[in-house]
Amino acid sequence: MDATAIEAAVAAAHAAGKAARGGENASYIPCLASVPPDLFGVAAMTVDGRYWSRGDDGYAFAIESISKVFTLALALETHGVDAVREKIGASATGMPFNSVMALELHGDRPLSPLVNAGAIAAASLAPGADAESRWASILAMQGKFAGHPVPLSDEVNASEQGTNFHNRAIAWLLYDRGYCYCDPMEAVDIYTRQCSTLVTCRDLAVMGATLAAGGVNPVTGERVVAREHVPPILAEMMMEGLYEASGEWAYTVGLPGKSGVGGGLVAVAPGRLAIAAFAPPLDAAGNSVAGQVAVKTVARELGLNLFAV
Ligand code: DON
Repeated sequence: MDATAIEAAVAAAHAAGKAARGGENASYIPCLASVPPDLFGVAAMTVDGRYWSRGDDGYAFAIESISKVFTLALALETHGVDAVREKIGASATGMPFNSVMALELHGDRPLSPLVNAGAIAAASLAPGADAESRWASILAMQGKFAGHPVPLSDEVNASEQGTNFHNRAIAWLLYDRGYCYCDPMEAVDIYTRQCSTLVTCRDLAVMGATLAAGGVNPVTGERVVAREHVPPILAEMMMEGLYEASGEWAYTVGLPGKSGVGGGLVAVAPGRLAIAAFAPPLDAAGNSVAGQVAVKTVARELGLNLFAV
């Protein structure tokens, strides 16, 4: 891909994201409310590891729901495509990320590993005999995608563990119908920890570029997931990566993406590059307002829509 064009696209995305207005920091997780709302960064990394960025690409923020992608990868590596589809599901719920109604409508089957329910189920499928070994395998997978060990934020984790009652209720519903594959409170504990790690916009670009490169981290050269596990991961990101706004995102951007309530967003153009952005204020669906503008701008400037012929 042409370096000058990517450089210009990232610069245009920075200008467009800076001008974006509206949204609010997540506040249902108390410590996220106090992250400076003016932070903003955008970055891109190609499948051969070339990197461009503007703004706050080195600020470490909570990964939140973007972690669901990497725990899904771990579940696929451990159990295979068919088992993950059977044990969790592979469709969009069309509902908010923590919807109990979505469970009610489908016999408590989570449907997607990218909503809270399905992500708790995916965490319960992580390999290991106990909570600590399951957690170690989840954290190691995040580190392989990022290309370095990813730290857990004790502050974010404590803030989430003290307020995650809704997710605990979801885990008990899953367990009741056989969709939680370890002790449900243990599953929520490790799921909550996986959401509480810290990444930068640059990290997200590397993590996305690993998917864009078919599962090989372009910085470390390490194969992180099997090539055949990348399409189901990207399919899930397209279906559910931005929750109930995923259809709008597919319609306007045409790239698989994943957001987190920490303000992070990553999108993947398979075989080409990843685009990452970070800005804490969120829209009503829980997706970064300026992040969406920035990623959309890069995708449009570089003509990356997968559905364009
Ligand atoms: O479980 C939660 O609600 C958070 N730890 C993560 C939710 C999230 O990031 C939704 N994303 N946009």
